[in-house]
Amino acid sequence: MHVLVTGACGFLGRKLIEALLIRGYLVGSMGETTPVSRIVATDILSEPHDLPTDERISYHPGDISDPKFVALLFANNPGSVFHLAALVSGGAEQDFDAGMKANLTGTLHLLEAARRTGVCPRFVFTSSIATYGGDLPEVVSDEYHLTPESSYGVQKAIGELLVKDYTRKGFVNGRSFRLPIIAVRPGGANSAASSWASAIIREPLKGVDYDCPVAPEDRGFLLSPSKAIEGLIVGHEAPDEAWGRNRSLMMAGLSCTARELVDALERVAGAQVAQRVRWQPDPFVRGIITTWPTQFSLEKATHIGLKADASIDALVADYIENMKATSL
Ligand SMILES: NC(=O)c1ccc[n+]([C@@H]2O[C@H](COP(=O)([O-])OP(=O)(O)OC[C@H]3O[C@@H](n4cnc5c(N)ncnc54)[C@H](O)[C@@H]3O)[C@@H](O)[C@H]2O)c1
Repeated sequence: MHVLVTGACGFLGRKLIEALLIRGYLVGSMGETTPVSRIVATDILSEPHDLPTDERISYHPGDISDPKFVALLFANNPGSVFHLAALVSGGAEQDFDAGMKANLTGTLHLLEAARRTGVCPRFVFTSSIATYGGDLPEVVSDEYHLTPESSYGVQKAIGELLVKDYTRKGFVNGRSFRLPIIAVRPGGANSAASSWASAIIREPLKGVDYDCPVAPEDRGFLLSPSKAIEGLIVGHEAPDEAWGRNRSLMMAGLSCTARELVDALERVAGAQVAQRVRWQPDPFVRGIITTWPTQFSLEKATHIGLKADASIDALVADYIENMKATSL
């Protein structure tokens, strides 16, 4: 089976490709288990940064807002599409046109190209917690109507509706995941408004003082990268009946405050490390992240078998283990 992965050079794209190569098979469009024979990896970056070397990968740089480029990606009728490319929250808020191109036009081109294959590929779409906003109940269900309060959230919400309708029409077999804040993200910060949830752990562990742009009591809904990738694959493999007619779900995660993250850092790495966090709340960042809910009923995630990390300490420890493994 050919698999198409967009956003292949991004944080989750690279991890997903590694996981698919190790796993070696996926459920195909007809529900049959099929070896992954080729991964068409694509990203706007001209070089395939940090992608594993494997003869099953072919790298195709280009912009998904260009329909001719997108049509080429579907030349070999991929049986599965993992659409991860996006301009993330802070970036899409600051550059409206770029966000619309990457997140809305790009998603539409991919769905259209998938439709033209006529093979109804499984289509995984990475939506976001940012599709929620405004006056929300204390506990939010998968079915609660979407009232995003950022351009990124609106673009993702439209993407989910498109995936649902292309599924209803039989053009693709869609599965949209509202991702929590994925932490801890290695390397440097990106333009996501949620970047603090990773930096608050990562920077002190590097020995660097960190000015945290949210308040200690601000809450996030978090999931480790390992659990996120595991969840995308579990959800890809789940039968249609498990997804039902509504093809969106909120992924499992843990709700915690910024202070609780620092407390976990202290328990796992010591007080000296945790003391490197300083509180410098920034109205731009807080204006986005405090509109995101942090308590979910998670009916469909539970039904499909998606798992959160065991605890915040486990999420911090997962990062430290990965850090050690990559620096060996
Ligand atoms: N990481 C998180 O906390 C989080 C949370 C919620 C949702 N998501 C979603 O999950 C997906 C992956 O997130 P990530 O953290 O890996 O993001 P990332 O920013 O690390 O990766 C996104 C990739 O998309 C590529 N890209 C951007 N615009 C493009 C375009 N026009 N054409 C082709 N490629 C383009 C970028 O070059 C980048 O490599 C995204 O769709 C994101 O919106 C992530």
